[in-house]
Amino acid sequence: MTYRIGVICGDGIGKEVIPEGLKVIRAAGVDFETVDYDLGGERYLRDGTVLPDSVLDEWRQLDVLYLGAVGTPDVPPGVIERGLLLKMRFDLDLYINLRPFSLPAEGGRSGHDFLVIRENTEGTYAGEGGFLRKGTPYEVATQGSVNTRHGVERCVRYAFELAASRERKHLTLVHKTNVLTFAGDLWQRAFDDLAGEFPDVTTAYNHVDAACIYFVQDPQRYDVIVTDNLFGDILTDLGGAVSGGIGLASSANLNPDRTSPSMFEPVHGSAPDIAGQNKANPIAAILSGALMLDFLGEKAAADAVRAACDACVEMTGSTTEIGDAIAAMLQ
Ligand code: IPM
Ligand code: MN
Repeated sequence: MTYRIGVICGDGIGKEVIPEGLKVIRAAGVDFETVDYDLGGERYLRDGTVLPDSVLDEWRQLDVLYLGAVGTPDVPPGVIERGLLLKMRFDLDLYINLRPFSLPAEGGRSGHDFLVIRENTEGTYAGEGGFLRKGTPYEVATQGSVNTRHGVERCVRYAFELAASRERKHLTLVHKTNVLTFAGDLWQRAFDDLAGEFPDVTTAYNHVDAACIYFVQDPQRYDVIVTDNLFGDILTDLGGAVSGGIGLASSANLNPDRTSPSMFEPVHGSAPDIAGQNKANPIAAILSGALMLDFLGEKAAADAVRAACDACVEMTGSTTEIGDAIAAMLQ
């Protein structure tokens, strides 16, 4: 089968790491064709384009989307993040943001694995709020958090199903129920109700501040974590930092119902400080490619890509050298 991959390299190091990911997927023996989309901060600065509806319609005909990073320092905050990345997540209903972590172990191999399931279409990211009397001494800015029973439940259900499929079968809810007593209450009830359907899965709850300590001091306690959009955003940068660095952190934005294509991207951003120097670590993008292969049902190829990344994780070299080394291991 020849998969059709929509490719958005985006800005900065996105342009350097995505070609390495495609190189590695090809080396893993998976057949695909790409459709390239020139989108991101640079495109916006050139002609004002962010994400035309016609492009969204084209994407619906593709199997998956592969994104590098979007954002340039000279574009005002939010234009590209909200207009492109979040619009993709929302309009394609990519309601699961799956972010796996492997704690480093001896010899560059991965040790303990755990995953964060981040709700990807609601919470503070939904954009509820606004200004009153903007620019005056009496201005008011509100920023609400949207939590629907439907949105929370489908995310928590996905996390339970994932936990049930794993060896350890342990799921932790992370929230801040002691302060966010409305949203937290809804999350906790959805979690408790679903726990009854998954008797094999053991459960736990951590406040997000305590979870930050455990991420650093005792990440072995985690198997699968489920959390809201903003907590998931913050915790997964920390997850990257404690598991070998953000240059290794991969992610999948999934529409598990397959009503539109899922999107795969590294957790890191466009890193303008090191862009254009062939020195970004391509492994986060390559591992995001492995998540894409998982989703396409190419399990053997995905596992082979992860094993090759494991073997090269301590390698020093340029972006292209690391990509070449990983690809060579697969051939
Ligand atoms: C991420 C990023 C995005 C987010 C930004 C770029 C909008 O930080 O994917 O984690 O906050 O979700
Ligand atoms: Mn983030």
